[in-house]
Amino acid sequence: MTTGEAVFTETIERDQRVEPADWMPDGYRRTMIRQIAQHAHSEIIGMQPEGEWITRAPTLRRKAILLAKVQDEAGHGLYLYSAAETLGADRGDLTRRLIEGRQKYSSIFNYPTHSFADVGVIGWLVDGAAICNQVPLCRSSFGPYARAMIRICKEESFHQRQGYELLLNMMSGTPAQRDMVQDSVNRWWWPSLMMFGPPDADSPNTAQSMAWKIKRHTNDELRQRFVDMTVPQAEALGVTLPDPALRWNAEREHYDFGQPDWDELRRVISGDGPLNRQRLARRRQADEDGAWVREAAAAHAARRSGVPA
Ligand code: ACO
Repeated sequence: MTTGEAVFTETIERDQRVEPADWMPDGYRRTMIRQIAQHAHSEIIGMQPEGEWITRAPTLRRKAILLAKVQDEAGHGLYLYSAAETLGADRGDLTRRLIEGRQKYSSIFNYPTHSFADVGVIGWLVDGAAICNQVPLCRSSFGPYARAMIRICKEESFHQRQGYELLLNMMSGTPAQRDMVQDSVNRWWWPSLMMFGPPDADSPNTAQSMAWKIKRHTNDELRQRFVDMTVPQAEALGVTLPDPALRWNAEREHYDFGQPDWDELRRVISGDGPLNRQRLARRRQADEDGAWVREAAAAHAARRSGVPA
């Protein structure tokens, strides 16, 4: 074992952080770039489903909240791309891989938003699932990723609360508003459970990522945690979660629940979800529309440093 390998192994064993300048196995670097890039892409693509509702928000207050939330997602993407850059990745290259369909982003953002209740349900369920998955990542072994996650989780917590508060409001409104919330919960429940990834038995990366302490819990453990956390919230809200198998198991002290349609997850991940093509087309268009800004910024930086662009 080389000194670098020994130091890396000891760092992981002692639960300390691996920093960008440290020696790390190629596989660790590749895994970190893969996960951080997918995560960053998810934040950026994730601006689209809710962004569509900014101009249609029912009140000025709701509009201000939604605007702030969508801007937060852009910020999360930027922290994460910066964390990937500390590993030698190039942000432009990562963006190219995304828009050419060569890198993944979260399945959840390929589903349509049909009503303003979806803004609330995305906050409650999607951001709630994101928090469940991401709080343990604050202790992830790669320093820049773990530190970025601390701020991201604080902001996600605001996103979750604004969603729940919006739903509480709608549930105390008219029957039509309550129906809108229930319809939205019916559509988003199963895709939210899929966010945690395939079942552990079908997850090729979990074992190694757990050994490297990149992941602190398996996909199934986090999915269970999310269900346990969400059922009482659904009861308080007065909505039904669309799973006939959902019931408290006193022996396990957890809720039992049904399995999502894993074929659907496979289809969505491989680019064949309800809105994959539209999401990527929109991102590609935004990239083309922003080309002049990047060129101007590069020319400005070159002039300031005295080196011609
Ligand atoms: N959507 C899209 N791709 C997924 C999903 C999903 N819901 N779940 C798993 N995958 C992909 C994995 O990225 C992996 O892809 P690969 O071909 O690059 O190897 C493959 O399916 C197999 O899955 P796993 O072996 O379970 O992969 P991994 O160990 O990376 O676990 C997980 C997946 C849980 C998503 C992990 O990467 C993670 O915790 N990422 C950070 C959180 C994140 O990206 N959140 C984004 C959504 S939250 C938000 O933006 C608000």
